[in-house]
Amino acid sequence: RTNELWGGRFASGPAEVMERINPSIDFDRRFWREDIQGSKAHAEMLVAQGIVSAADGAAIAKGLDEIWGEIESGRFKFSRALEDIHMNVESRLREVVGEPAGRLHTARSRNDQVALDMKLWCRGAIDDLEVELKALQAALIDQAERHADAVMPGFTHLQVAQPITFGHHMLAYVEMFGRDRGRLADCRRRLNESPLGSAALAGTPYPIDRFRTASALGFDRPTANSLDSVSDRDYAMELIAAAGICAVHMSRLAEELVLWTTAQFRFVRLSDGFSSGSSIMPQKRNPDAAELVRGKAGRVLGAFTALSLVMKGLPLAYSKDMQEDKEPVFDAIDTLGLCIAAMTGMIADMEANPAAMRRAVEAGFPTATDLADWLVREAGLPFRDAHHVAGRLVKEAETRGCGLADLPLDVMQAAHPALDERIYQVVSVEASVNARTSYGGTAPERVREQVAEARRRFLDG
Ligand code: ARG
Repeated sequence: RTNELWGGRFASGPAEVMERINPSIDFDRRFWREDIQGSKAHAEMLVAQGIVSAADGAAIAKGLDEIWGEIESGRFKFSRALEDIHMNVESRLREVVGEPAGRLHTARSRNDQVALDMKLWCRGAIDDLEVELKALQAALIDQAERHADAVMPGFTHLQVAQPITFGHHMLAYVEMFGRDRGRLADCRRRLNESPLGSAALAGTPYPIDRFRTASALGFDRPTANSLDSVSDRDYAMELIAAAGICAVHMSRLAEELVLWTTAQFRFVRLSDGFSSGSSIMPQKRNPDAAELVRGKAGRVLGAFTALSLVMKGLPLAYSKDMQEDKEPVFDAIDTLGLCIAAMTGMIADMEANPAAMRRAVEAGFPTATDLADWLVREAGLPFRDAHHVAGRLVKEAETRGCGLADLPLDVMQAAHPALDERIYQVVSVEASVNARTSYGGTAPERVREQVAEARRRFLDG
């Protein structure tokens, strides 16, 4: 049997394997809402332009509403023989309203239809991610406020570097997720032009009004070039590229949670709800959710690779290769959404352990820089010389198995005579963080200011 929608010039039906490779209905049914919304806007415009009669337009709209109800309630029978969501809906429309259904596809092609559906879906995904990322930022900001003055080691090379506050560390991620939101917002602004009415590739001779459908569907304007409209998927690539960068941020935070929950660190404890036990080792509390967030970032990044490779060799305009755009995009967005939700839960429930952070920061001579800075400031030493003096004292403390603050004054003065009692104020980790009051610095007072600023920049409105 030949296809009922395009089978006019065919004598026989598809091969069995064709029925397996060709359809997209198993995944593109996902944007049935977008498809029906687009069809309703298109039909309404056809009527307004006098291309389709009001009666036919009303029948089409009513039929589409009925199909909406069928799909929503799970009564709709999707058919692989009808390939995709577009033909499934249109074919059902013919059953529901009869002859007027055949007029819906006037001045339209599946090429602009699928471009429209995909854009609408991506736009919705961006709007959802925006809400989800905001919730994650809110959880991070709350933790930052709670622990604005909890001193922990800041690391470079994963070696203790300088004391920082846990609040400062949390706010670093708030900034990253803020830029992720910015990238998604940029993508949304660029994608928000309607391809509907580009038809197959060249436009259409019917007197359509693309501005009308664009505004009905919440677009800023119609796209300017019909060929471009049906050919490019840059908006989808841009979306999952931004999703990939966000997934990298999520993965780094996840990695820190994995590290911080170990017996060696104990900086944080994840709630029972976000930990798993071991079937053999009774003591275990594994950070499975964090590991999965770290692992799934690979999938999101892979999606961008997949889609860009699908697109890179395609001549204009539409090729069926482009049907392969959907699965990577859906999977990337589903995966990222799940990761954000899990991360938000982990962060909201997580219990920080300032005592463990304090012990860890003491262990690594993190205030050696402060000692050197003091010699520069108070004794006028060149920084390089001061660096050397501080290094000698670190070596001495290491030999004695104590911290810098535990070295007796005569030992300090043997390293440099200008050192006096005041140095003990300087080499404490609290003094170190309190001194870092430069804008964006780790001092608790700055962190508290940044908590308030972050709420204003990211959470208000
Ligand atoms: N299912 C197709 C896709 O996802 C819809 C567009 C089909 N257009 C065409 N000329 N075959 O890309």
